[in-house]
Amino acid sequence: MSYPELMIESIARVEETRSSRLKQIMPRITLEEKQILLENFHPDYKSESFRKLKIGPNRGDKVPHELADLLEARSRIEPKDFDLSRVDYETEVLVIGGGGAGTAAALTAQEQGIDVIIATKLRWGDSNTIMAQGGIQAADKENDSPVRHYIDLVGGGGFVNIPELARALVFDAPMIIRWLESLGVMFDKEPDGTMKTVHGGGTSRKRMHSCRDYTGMEIMRVLRDEARNRGIHVLDFSPAVEILLDESGKCAGAILYDLETEEYFIVKAKATIIATGGMGRLHVQGFPTTNHYGATADGLVLAYRVGAKLIFMDTVQYHPTGVAYPEQILGQLVTEKVRGMGAQLVNNEGFQFINELETRDIVSAAIIRECTDRNLGVVTPTGMVGVWLDTPMIDIKHGSGTTQRTLPAMVRQYMRYQIDITKQPILVYPTQHYQNGGILIDENAQCSIPGLFIAGEASGGVHGRNRLMGNSLLDILVFGRRAGKNAALYASTTKVNSLTLKHLEKFHQELIESGVGLERVSPMLLPDYSSHLSKIRRKGGVIIA
Ligand code: FUM
Repeated sequence: MSYPELMIESIARVEETRSSRLKQIMPRITLEEKQILLENFHPDYKSESFRKLKIGPNRGDKVPHELADLLEARSRIEPKDFDLSRVDYETEVLVIGGGGAGTAAALTAQEQGIDVIIATKLRWGDSNTIMAQGGIQAADKENDSPVRHYIDLVGGGGFVNIPELARALVFDAPMIIRWLESLGVMFDKEPDGTMKTVHGGGTSRKRMHSCRDYTGMEIMRVLRDEARNRGIHVLDFSPAVEILLDESGKCAGAILYDLETEEYFIVKAKATIIATGGMGRLHVQGFPTTNHYGATADGLVLAYRVGAKLIFMDTVQYHPTGVAYPEQILGQLVTEKVRGMGAQLVNNEGFQFINELETRDIVSAAIIRECTDRNLGVVTPTGMVGVWLDTPMIDIKHGSGTTQRTLPAMVRQYMRYQIDITKQPILVYPTQHYQNGGILIDENAQCSIPGLFIAGEASGGVHGRNRLMGNSLLDILVFGRRAGKNAALYASTTKVNSLTLKHLEKFHQELIESGVGLERVSPMLLPDYSSHLSKIRRKGGVIIA
C-alpha cells in the first residue's frame, strides 16, 4: 500500500523542515492559551453532544448522549418475573470483569483466604489492559518522588482530582512495580539492571516503565498465569446484566448472562467488585476508538441502577494519536511513547504546531484546530484528515535501530501496509481512548452501596478531568488490589439476606414517570456495527469525502 502521491508530496515538506525542527524545542503554551484552545476545539466543549440526565443519582448532570441513552434505559430482564430463589453459584467475592483490574482484585481477595469468582464478558484477559502500549507510571527513581507524581497527576487532571484517590495512586505505585516484577513481568531495563523510564505528556520526570510497546499485554499475561496457577474460578462469556441487592440494601451479587446458551444465572456474593472497564466502544461524537470490543459502559449502567453516583462523566479522553491512515486500522492507538521518544507532530506544510508532550486534552484540541480551523491537515484519498507524527526522528535522535527495539509492535503494525515508520512519518488524528470519570469511590475502592467495590476505568475521581499516560495501568492495579483486599475484609464480616430486585422495579418506575419511557434497553454488552460504522465515518471531526 505505502502512501499515495499527494501524501508523499506532503511528506517531502516534513523532511525539508526536519533538520531545523531537530534543533528546536516547541515552547509550552500558557494556562490561558490552553483554556482558549480547549473551549474552541476540544470535543468536551461541544454542548450539543451532551444532555442532562432525567433520572438517577446524577439527575441534572450532563453526560454524552451515547452514555445517557444507556443510563436511561430499562433492564434486559423483567424484575417482577425473575426467579431469585434459584442461586446458581455462591461465593464470598464476585469480581465482574476479567481484565487487569479484575484479575488483580481477584488475586488480592484470594490472598485474604476467601472464595472468589471472576465473571468475564468475553475471554479472560480480553480487555483494554492487553491493548495498553506505552507504560505504567511510578515514581521510583532517585530524582523523583510520589509527591512530584501527585503534582503532575493533579495538574494534568485540571486540579479537580479527589485528593485521597490521587494520594493512594501515587504512593502505592512503587509497590505495584515491585509486585509485578516479583510475579514475573519483564520490564525494559538498562544494561546495569535499572529500569528504563521515559516521559509521557504532562510528566515532570521520566517515570514511564514499559515492556517495549506491549506493556499491558505483558502485565495481563503474568496476572492471568498467576491467577490460573492459584486456581481462581472463572466464568467466561458471562457478562453481568444486573447487580443484586439484599433486603437490607446491601450488594449481594449479580445476574449474569451466558452468551453461549443465552440463559441468565445468579451469583450470590457477600461482596461484589465491578471491574468492567470504560465506555470506549460508544464512539462518542462519532469518533473512532482505541478500545477493546467489550468497552460498552456496562459497569456504569449496573452501578447507576442500584444508586451509585457517577463523577466527571462529562469528560471523555481522546488520544491525540489515533491512526488516520491506512483506513483499515483507523482509530487504533499510536502510543504516546512515540512522542515520549522524540517524534514531533507537524502539519501538511511540515511545521510543528504544539509541543507534543502537552497533556492529551491539549494536544488533541491542537490537532483538531490544525485540521479544521487552520485547514492545515493532510487529506487522504478516502477523505480522512490528520497530521503527521514524524517517527523517523526517533532513530535520528537516539540511533539507528531504536524504533525497532523499543516499538516493535508499532513497526510491525505499519509494515503490514508497507509503511516503514523508521523512514516515513505516520498520519494521526484524535480517537476515543478513555473515560476520565466513572463510579465515585473512596480510597478503599468502595462506592456508596455497601458491599459494592469498583476498580479501574469503571471508577472515577482519581484522574480528575484528564488522565495522564501510564496512570491507567497503574490505576487498575492500585485500585484492583485495594478493591480485592477491602472486598475480602468486608465479606468476612457480613451476612447476605434474601435477594431482591426491587431497586430495578423502582428504576423502571422512574423511567416511566420522568417521561423517558421503557424503549431503550441496556447494558449494551456488545456494540452493534451493522448500523454504527457509517456514523463513525461521518462524524468525529474526521472529514469524509
Ligand atoms: O499512549 C499510550 O501508550 C497509552 C497509554 C495510556 O493511555 O496510559
